[in-house]
Amino acid sequence: MLIRRQGAGLLVRTPAKVNLFLETLARRQDGYHELATLMVAVSLYDSLEFRDDPSGAIGLSCDSPSLPTGADNLVVKAAELLKRQTGHRTGAAIVLRKRIPAAAGLAGGSSDAAATLVGLNRLWRCGLNGAELGELAGRLGSDVAFFLATPAAWCTGRGEIVEPLRLGRPLDVVLACPAIGLSTAEVFRNLIVPSAPQDGVALRRSAEAGEVEEIGRHLFNRLQPVAERLCPAVAGLCGRLAGQGPAGCLMSGSGSTVFALCRCRGEARRVARELAAVREGPGSTRVYIVRSCS
Ligand code: C5P
Repeated sequence: MLIRRQGAGLLVRTPAKVNLFLETLARRQDGYHELATLMVAVSLYDSLEFRDDPSGAIGLSCDSPSLPTGADNLVVKAAELLKRQTGHRTGAAIVLRKRIPAAAGLAGGSSDAAATLVGLNRLWRCGLNGAELGELAGRLGSDVAFFLATPAAWCTGRGEIVEPLRLGRPLDVVLACPAIGLSTAEVFRNLIVPSAPQDGVALRRSAEAGEVEEIGRHLFNRLQPVAERLCPAVAGLCGRLAGQGPAGCLMSGSGSTVFALCRCRGEARRVARELAAVREGPGSTRVYIVRSCS
């Protein structure tokens, strides 16, 4: 997350994430699932501008007309939560520039919420520390806390228990986002929790060692078969990416984005070019060449 002053306000640039590993361990009493997942922030960013509003109101505007900007938006929820929690008096005018596709398994909304907590904590001089922000983040959503601890982390619990880790080297990734998104809640609803879950030890070790071939071999996402049933484009895209011969392919989070892990930037460019060459007609797949954040 990048924060800089802009006049009297603040500008925050906040990344998307991909999951290199995602296993579900149990269904919880509260309806959520116990997870083990390795998340990596990647260089596709939303940006948010924050300005103080003496009226006390929280207002959000966004350059993406399809995104609701009312009380249900996670950015507004994050601002209201921080204001309530700290008793801060003034409000904020927030401008969101959306680049991360929604309902795509890239956690754009969660990233925006984390940026709002960090940005307004700074702008309003609330003085909350990392642990306090992490607690608020956990209340907003399962993967909001990760964005306070990027660039990479092993996450457990609902996803909100975050253990930062160091990637052994930057990873070059091609994201392919189908026109159709997926609802996280619906994917989880259709999941059968495995009786013998995978532990992710090999993936985690290879990520820390920076061994791309090994990471590619151990990429895993328990939610992918469920998502493929709900959205056949996921399987089709994954097959097409795999056909280009990258180190590995996987769906991110609850989908519908799939990604190719590449051995270098050149390979990522080639994979993206060949994927983009196959047109799907109106509402076609969006393709991004990204790198893990450092
Ligand atoms: O926490 P978040 O609001 O992002 O989760 C969206 C939905 O995904 C939840 O309402 C729940 O149905 C599902 N979910 C889950 N277990 C998790 C995270 C999310 O079942 N660990």
